[in-house]
Amino acid sequence: MRKSYLLTPGPTSIPENISALFARPIIHHRTPAFQSLFEDVRQGLKYLYQTKHEVLVLTTTGTGAMEAAVTNLFQKGQKVITINGGKFGERWTKLAKTFDLNPIELALPAGEAIEPSALEDCVRSHPDARAILFQASETSTGVVMPTKEICRIAAQAGMLSVCDAITACGVFDLPMDDWGIDVLITGSQKALMLPPGLATIALSEKAWKFNEQADLPRFYFDLAKERKSQAKNQTSWTPAISIIQGLQESLRMIREEGLHNVFKRHDLLARATRNAAKALHLELLSKNAPSNAVTAVLVPSSIQDGKQIPKIMRDKYGVTIAGGQDELEGKIIRLSHFGYCDRFDITTGISALELVLHELGHPFELGQGLAAVLRTFADSSKS
Ligand SMILES: Cc1ncc(COP(=O)(O)O)c(C=O)c1O
Repeated sequence: MRKSYLLTPGPTSIPENISALFARPIIHHRTPAFQSLFEDVRQGLKYLYQTKHEVLVLTTTGTGAMEAAVTNLFQKGQKVITINGGKFGERWTKLAKTFDLNPIELALPAGEAIEPSALEDCVRSHPDARAILFQASETSTGVVMPTKEICRIAAQAGMLSVCDAITACGVFDLPMDDWGIDVLITGSQKALMLPPGLATIALSEKAWKFNEQADLPRFYFDLAKERKSQAKNQTSWTPAISIIQGLQESLRMIREEGLHNVFKRHDLLARATRNAAKALHLELLSKNAPSNAVTAVLVPSSIQDGKQIPKIMRDKYGVTIAGGQDELEGKIIRLSHFGYCDRFDITTGISALELVLHELGHPFELGQGLAAVLRTFADSSKS
């Protein structure tokens, strides 16, 4: 017998009470029962997003909502600024090109966040750009971007701030209305603790104005049509009903814990993981802006084949973490600590990591990382 533990940055683990919901008979979506469920979900999403705007639920994964943002906001040929801090930032550029926009890409070295001054320079050089497209948390490198600053810069230049918060929303504070985030996106298989299949997106008044002028081709992802349907507690197409039932429960859990307590929990788990890495003589990929969603750690020079770390953790100990993607393949490992995750997921993850590092000959004393985790928890429970 061996238990399995999922510590990847999506999908994340699903709470037992949510999994149990999926065993119930399906309900029909054009019914009062669905409408009442959806009404509750709409309120819960406004709480999560800290917004008065409608948060639309789309049956798709996160990328679908990114595509919806692009096709519903812009006109052919328009210039947009994309911040490419990794695989997901690059996706904004690819989407923009696919739909005949003119992306100006600000590419960052792996592990770095955008410097607001560099963004300001870019905005000054491209005053005709219509928007800044970015990640609040770049999952491929474990970096948090300065969302508040980016939104301020966008607003001052009359541009939209389009924020992929797929591994940020419900992890750390991103108050949509207070910070003037024009478009905020998340996905179900992340902090919402659900299976993949839903994405949510909210638009500010300014973004809805852009939508009125947008002329890119779209059919399934027509946000104005969705807004009308969802105001009546309906969706334009057949939704992922079961995941929406799960969403009602996950939003209830988030409200019960309290949004700011959810953020504090993620902060603690992330700090414990970073402290463990340091104690194990491992270097973080991000020196200045590590994300509270996922910790990216450089494979130490003592280990030849970095891909062995996640492989052995999974195959021998049942603990699934993520490796690096593209040019970071074999160079980093990524331990996630968000969603349905508490202190003992971290002790489990770090224990398995230590066993594998030890097996691969990395020099450290067994238990050093775990001790750093426990010390972080003990210190936090004193304060
Ligand atoms: C920051 C970020 N953006 C976009 C995506 C793409 O989402 P999906 O795979 O759900 O389409 C992910 C998925 O990991 C992500 O982490």
